[in-house]
Amino acid sequence: MPTTDPQIIDIKKTSINSFAPRLLTWFDDYGRHDLPWQQHKTNLPDAYKVWISEVMLQQTQVVTVIPYYKRFMQSFPTVNELANANWDTVAEHWAGLGYYARARNLHKGAKQLVDIINQTGHYPQTVAEWEQISGVGRSTAGAIVAMGLHDYGVICDGNVKRVLTRWAGIEDDITKAATTKQLWALAETLTPKDASGNFAQAMMDMGATVCNRTKPACLTGDKPCPIQADCIAFKQNKQLNLPFKAKKKPKPSKHSYALVINNPQGKSLWLKRPETGIWGGLWCLPLKFIHKLQGKKIVEDVNSDASYEKELTTAEQIIDQFLQNNSIDIKADTQTKQLKHTLTHFHWHITTCHINLNQQQQNKLNKLLANAHISLYWLDVEHAQKQLALPAVINKIFS
Ligand code: ADE
Repeated sequence: MPTTDPQIIDIKKTSINSFAPRLLTWFDDYGRHDLPWQQHKTNLPDAYKVWISEVMLQQTQVVTVIPYYKRFMQSFPTVNELANANWDTVAEHWAGLGYYARARNLHKGAKQLVDIINQTGHYPQTVAEWEQISGVGRSTAGAIVAMGLHDYGVICDGNVKRVLTRWAGIEDDITKAATTKQLWALAETLTPKDASGNFAQAMMDMGATVCNRTKPACLTGDKPCPIQADCIAFKQNKQLNLPFKAKKKPKPSKHSYALVINNPQGKSLWLKRPETGIWGGLWCLPLKFIHKLQGKKIVEDVNSDASYEKELTTAEQIIDQFLQNNSIDIKADTQTKQLKHTLTHFHWHITTCHINLNQQQQNKLNKLLANAHISLYWLDVEHAQKQLALPAVINKIFS
């Protein structure tokens, strides 16, 4: 029987003890049972499928993930095939899902897993061992062990945190470490030892379909809420106030030109981004950063060498110098819309800028880039979109 951590809010023992049975009954009737990575109806669980799907689901919704997951599994049906694939092929399978660090982590994680399997004969078996794999945090590790190995694992992702803060009426800032600790303790208390996989899926399904973020369907949906009877937020009508997150100061903005540098044949220059950093390993138009704003105030601009060098790749610095030396003007296109792309730490405003080179200029630029061993292609946009893994926002520019 679960016991309540004395540090946790005061919740009736009957509420605690009946929580999992209520959730599991609800899962049988209303949960999702036909997702392509699900393992709860098989006696031979498959950690690989659950690992891949959980990483894809970290920042992306189920409906978006399904086609990507299917294509990924067709191309990389085993961890060996993923470990042996080249990065460009993996990146192509990820193009459009966003948060590319996840794909890089999966690729690196596959190599780590193959080493472990070669040494031990099997996948990591515990949450602690899974947490050593690149890109696998505590909650993902819990999900893999619970759903992919049918052992005991606890999850406490965003969905679970939302359900628990509402149910237990936890009003503390969920971005604080103490609140995280409290929520994990509560998740551990509530997770049944013998059905943690179904419980994990039930919590995520309930969080996504009933206890959703903006329109919690406490009374209105076609699925009843299994924990409404003792839900504090429901009783006090403050579902929409929870979970509480203290307001952060506004994100800074960066403004960049995406340079569409055309040769006389109408093909544009494409560069491979460095492995680390934004869009690592993907192909992109050369960028030129303009300035960085905090609210309306410019906090860094291109005249500051430190930011200039930090933000630009070697190839982009070579191109920038080349354009200056050859007095080639950069002017923002007036026809194209400016795109706003929001990343974890800043908003990024991107404007295209067409530059037409003559043959002599193209030759000169090619030589400069070749001397610096830069990987590049001259391709028209249509072919670049077909052949190269481009960041979603760059595809959007041309849509
Ligand atoms: N989010 C993270 N993992 C998930 C899962 N297994 N099902 C639905 N949403 C999820």
